[in-house]
Amino acid sequence: MFFRCLGAVDDQSGAGYAGNIWLVARRQNYSSIVGFALARVAADECELLSLGVASEYRANGAGTQLLTAAMARAVAEQARWFFLEVAEDNEAALRLYGAHGLEKVGYRLNYYENADGSKTNALTMRCALPELA
Ligand SMILES: CC(C)(COP(=O)(O)OP(=O)(O)OC[C@H]1O[C@@H](n2cnc3c(N)ncnc32)[C@H](O)[C@@H]1OP(=O)(O)O)[C@@H](O)C(=O)NCCC(=O)NCCS
Repeated sequence: MFFRCLGAVDDQSGAGYAGNIWLVARRQNYSSIVGFALARVAADECELLSLGVASEYRANGAGTQLLTAAMARAVAEQARWFFLEVAEDNEAALRLYGAHGLEKVGYRLNYYENADGSKTNALTMRCALPELA
């Protein structure tokens, strides 16, 4: 399955200003959106705020394409570091991030609240981004 990652269009929200990265993934030759990534650049750091792929399209490479597209946009925005938080039990995300050079740099106790009221710890992860040639 092939995906295209595009900057979001019809942006009325202000998210399109320099420093905000808002990407959607579409299946090749289909118009419906199957995933998205939101990130924000501040100073020399880009923080991945949210990344998601519709459950029926997961494990087909869309998450990888969204992450790499977000990193490329961060480099274009002159960010030197890429940073995110992830639940410590999120195996798919941890595998994705680990494969793209993100390393654990911190730990946030009881950071996420689950639907049943229980809490999950978060890991913070970071990697250096290449300099723009
Ligand atoms: C995390 C997420 C974005 C990955 O998207 P995806 O389209 O499935 O990602 P990819 O297909 O590019 O796969 C990335 C890696 O995750 C692995 N993976 C995918 N689904 C997996 C699963 N259920 N369990 C373990 N690993 C999984 C893939 O095998 C792949 O690793 P590999 O290249 O070493 O084989 C997706 O699972 C998702 O939307 N999850 C819910 C939201 C979420 O957790 N977002 C991240 C918040 S920080």
